[in-house]
Amino acid sequence: MIDKIKKIFEEIEATSVENIENLENFRLKYLSKKGSISKLFNDFKTISAEQKKIIGQEINKLKQSAQNKYNSLKESLEEVEQDTSVMDFTRTGEPLELGSRHPISIVRNEIIDIFGRLGFTIAEGPEIEDDFHNFTALNFPPEHPARDMQDTFFIEKDPDILLRTHTSGSQVRYMEKHKPPIRSIFPGRVFRNEAISARAHCIFHQVEGLFVAENVSFADLKQTLMYFAKEMFGEKTEIRLRPSYFPFTEPSAEMDVSCSICGGKGCNVCKYTGWLEILGCGMVDPNVLDNCGIDSEKYTGFAFGMGIERIAMLKFQIKDLRLYFENDVKFLRQFKSAY
Ligand code: PHE
Repeated sequence: MIDKIKKIFEEIEATSVENIENLENFRLKYLSKKGSISKLFNDFKTISAEQKKIIGQEINKLKQSAQNKYNSLKESLEEVEQDTSVMDFTRTGEPLELGSRHPISIVRNEIIDIFGRLGFTIAEGPEIEDDFHNFTALNFPPEHPARDMQDTFFIEKDPDILLRTHTSGSQVRYMEKHKPPIRSIFPGRVFRNEAISARAHCIFHQVEGLFVAENVSFADLKQTLMYFAKEMFGEKTEIRLRPSYFPFTEPSAEMDVSCSICGGKGCNVCKYTGWLEILGCGMVDPNVLDNCGIDSEKYTGFAFGMGIERIAMLKFQIKDLRLYFENDVKFLRQFKSAY
């Protein structure tokens, strides 16, 4: 029997495998219930008691070495699988699916690009603002309704810390640090305490712009915005400025663009008026310049502010604001753009 054990031992030692099938055959041959080692245990019953002791030890050693061999063969097979020398580099690659940008990012980047061509740089400010930068410096009277709890998310009261309701606070911060000429745009997220619906959301995105220098006039404002409108909505786009009110600009205006969907003839998007309101603007109130340490006798400026969601809605004919925030891939996949 010792000879038999020795023979099996040598066989095991000499075994090598090339694939999983060989490995499985090895297991069946030596380690399974019907394998040669189990058979040895059957023969074991017929031998004398003194031999049992020695042979029992030998069979156990054999079994252990078969198990060890099995483990090391398995390991070496796994290594081969990862070995790049046996990889097939000529195989066609798995196609990589390309994502698309969010419509808000597309439109924001396009706005930045258009104003960049006019020499506007980008500046940003904090989303958590104090009362001074969000309201006081911008000439909001103490009792102005925009300061009301209904519009503003307050984080702390006295002194007031809040989520900015517009990016105008970043303009104040910029003017505090920089001397004219100033020509910058301020993209960012803003927050208003409004019920969420198809037309309103408590979070949205703005791009505001500021131009302060000597002899800046309303004509400069109009020219700048006309260039923007034509670049954004097409060469045929016309603009119209209607008088409006903002505490931080005087005079103030709201700008409409001719409806790009019906070309101004009237449709349900422009509610049959032929015009779409897209932004607020005006000449920076001298009080604001003074509050920011800029000499309002020497310098004048214009400012404007627009909602990115609104522009994207008009550009892509999106009917519900909530779609921007739900991130449904079926919605998001529709937007492919150079930006
Ligand atoms: N800050 C204004 C808003 O959030 C937009 C605006 C900016 C209007 C600059 C005029 C000038 O509605």
